[in-house]
Amino acid sequence: MTVTAVAVKLGERGYQVLVGPGARRELTGLLPPSAERAVVVTQASVPVEVHTGLPTRVVNIAEWEAAKSLATVDSCCRVFAAAGLTRSDVVVAVGGGLVTDVAGLAAALWHRGTPVVHVATTLLAQIDAAIGGKAGVNLPEGKNLVGAFWQPCGVICDTETLASLPAAEWRSGRGELAKYAFLGVENLDRLSLEEQVVACVTCKAEVVAADERERGRRMVLNYGHTLAHALEGAGLAGEPGGTATRRVLRHGEAVAVGLVFAAHLARALGRIDDARVRRHEELVASYDLPSRLPPGAEVEELIAYMGRDKKSQHDLTFVLDGPAGVEAVGGVEPALVARVLEELRSEALP
Ligand SMILES: NC(=O)c1ccc[n+]([C@@H]2O[C@H](COP(=O)([O-])OP(=O)(O)OC[C@H]3O[C@@H](n4cnc5c(N)ncnc54)[C@H](O)[C@@H]3O)[C@@H](O)[C@H]2O)c1
Ligand SMILES: [Zn+2]
Repeated sequence: MTVTAVAVKLGERGYQVLVGPGARRELTGLLPPSAERAVVVTQASVPVEVHTGLPTRVVNIAEWEAAKSLATVDSCCRVFAAAGLTRSDVVVAVGGGLVTDVAGLAAALWHRGTPVVHVATTLLAQIDAAIGGKAGVNLPEGKNLVGAFWQPCGVICDTETLASLPAAEWRSGRGELAKYAFLGVENLDRLSLEEQVVACVTCKAEVVAADERERGRRMVLNYGHTLAHALEGAGLAGEPGGTATRRVLRHGEAVAVGLVFAAHLARALGRIDDARVRRHEELVASYDLPSRLPPGAEVEELIAYMGRDKKSQHDLTFVLDGPAGVEAVGGVEPALVARVLEELRSEALP
């Protein structure tokens, strides 16, 4: 398969996403013609080199969520200053969602907005994080609390770069992939890797074009995420780590549990039938992902986190499957949520 271009149709903020093996070699074609210099934001652990064809400085940022901070944005901007980067130059992010989120926000702020191109190097970033223009960092008070909408001027999803991806990151990406199967991406399991990325990028591009600023429809991209974020809040999901008795799920694994939970909840509300719930369970199992709560999960604690979810307005709101497809559903009774969570308990992860 050669490189496929998917358009994100946002008028003057629109751009192309190039997907396929070797797509990174087409980077120069995505840079703004005005650019005379580039700063590449990446991580030492990302073994991907890009050629901008311009005088280029490289800044390596640290790994994991603690590095997704205003301090890291500050250090990127200091390098932009040292490099003499102007508003007509370009920032190139090379990495997973952490790098594209940090570099995207630094670019949004630098001179009140400097072009950025994302070269996404994890499955999760290729099918989700690098597309759509949401950039943000964490505060001690919560994830992604400081951010901006800043569309890139192009995105590269070079599937060759995934060859070095650790197994845990593949699992995390597959959880996000499973989500798209319920957002209208057909026969995901029969597609090649490149076709899967193209299908998910096309789906996300369409949702973002319809609702750039997440006023309504874009919320469907949070399918499976209400429980996933609660598990992250409770310390049961997030970064690698944990102990022999308390394994911490990666984000996409938590999304997988969240998808199965959402299916059980939708059934309890009479929105979907047993066969549709089985479809969720089978798909998640076929990706070798967990579908039950990890040991140590406390139902009351998870419900408290869900009540603080950004979709909720003084009630429990979920993104749920139903006769009209996946949509936001508010006013769900906490007692029902508790019952469904109890259904999903297990002693051990699959
Ligand atoms: N902006 C959005 O719309 C959006 C959407 C989803 C997720 N996100 C954010 O994305 C972040 C998670 O992104 P992620 O899952 O890509 O994790 P990540 O960026 O932290 O990358 C995971 C690990 O993989 C390494 N890595 C990256 N590419 C590699 C490669 N090709 N080979 C070997 N190792 C490689 C990284 O160095 C890191 O250690 C979270 O902060 C999340 O909030 C943002
Ligand atoms: Zn996600």
